[in-house]
Amino acid sequence: MAPHDDGIEVAEETMVAEAEKRPIVTIVIVIAMQTEALPLVNKFKLSENHDPVFPKGVPWVRYHGIYKDLNINIIWPGKDSVLGVDCVGTVPASLVTYASIQALQPDLIINAGTAGGFKAKGACIGDVFVACDVAFHDRRIPIPVFDLYGICARRTFSTPNMLKELKLKVGKLSTGDSLDMSPHDEASITANDATLKDMEGAAVAYVADLLSVPAIFIKAVTDIVDDDKPTAEEFLQNLVAVTAALDQAVTQVVDFISGKCISEL
Ligand code: ADE
Repeated sequence: MAPHDDGIEVAEETMVAEAEKRPIVTIVIVIAMQTEALPLVNKFKLSENHDPVFPKGVPWVRYHGIYKDLNINIIWPGKDSVLGVDCVGTVPASLVTYASIQALQPDLIINAGTAGGFKAKGACIGDVFVACDVAFHDRRIPIPVFDLYGICARRTFSTPNMLKELKLKVGKLSTGDSLDMSPHDEASITANDATLKDMEGAAVAYVADLLSVPAIFIKAVTDIVDDDKPTAEEFLQNLVAVTAALDQAVTQVVDFISGKCISEL
């Protein structure tokens, strides 16, 4: 059986290499909060798409349009049907990433959003980072190998040309389902060597890897985690202003991507 399996593997690798040489056509941008998404929807002149690409009844929203020859889809998980707040966190992020890849077959995923930053690692309010690594900090399973499965640390898709041209900061991102930080989370975030803390990135990365779609992570800092200010207050206070910086960076990234293939990023 081995030669047969090797043959399939080589064929798959060849297909991936071929795909990386084709111009990027379709992008899915996963954004958890409406406040973060709407300025980009306007910037790219996207419209809300009512085609049933998602199952009936889910709150997930797809904004779609053509911008600089790119087929752009901003996917927002929508608002919780009972509580009316944005569906933030890893579960909605995983679901919309999976459903979007299945329905739209994108060449590239971008996960854009806000994050907490660590000043000890050089983060300041309003900084925009591209994540070079992602991991979880709240999936603690202290059994050999399951511990590594829980953390799920991985390098993100490498974009050396984009980083060189756009001069964005680069840092490691740690993901969990809480805005605050428990002492356990803090120890895991430190072990992950993270500069940034968010609530979606590693989940999007997991699904994108599962389905072999390259993904990049653009995160803007709304609050400093390792200072004395209450996180929720600082986050809400800075959300709108920092979103402007995030959206500017995402636009630069999309402009850079336009006309290129995956292997040129
Ligand atoms: N998004 C913005 N700030 C955050 C924080 N401190 N933790 C998790 N997600 C965030």
